Amino acid sequence: MIAIGSDHGGFALKQEIMKHLEAAGYAYKDYGTYTADSCDYPVYGERVARAVAGGEAERGILICGTGIGISISANKVKGIRAALCGDCYSAEMTRRHNDANILALGARVLGPGLALKIVDTFLTTEFEGGRHARRVALISDIENR
Ligand code: RB5
Repeated sequence: MIAIGSDHGGFALKQEIMKHLEAAGYAYKDYGTYTADSCDYPVYGERVARAVAGGEAERGILICGTGIGISISANKVKGIRAALCGDCYSAEMTRRHNDANILALGARVLGPGLALKIVDTFLTTEFEGGRHARRVALISDIENR
């Protein structure tokens, strides 16, 4: 299952992404926000991050205006590696090398066409493991110090 969330700045793009996930046959759960009214991005960043960190969801997608505030918020939760991506190369590499478990997008930065391609790339690319697993483990070590 994919956990998805946004603030008001990402609300419209979240609707597009959910339609896209549905058409592609992905199971997902919407953690809000549920209207275009102004709200606070850390609330939704944390909700999706907790769902992923707790194992309820395998991956997460978060959207705010820039993708910055919501990714910073998600990365405060232990076990979360949220990657803000504005291109498909970064989305591919953050899966292959960082085993990113949340994709963050900036709805006011990206057009919907590119955003959907980034989502597809993120969801279909596997972690390479090997030397990258050691580096990801070093990231986890930071959380434990
Ligand atoms: C909301 O106006 C905006 O600050 C938010 O969507 C996001 O861009 C924060 O990083």
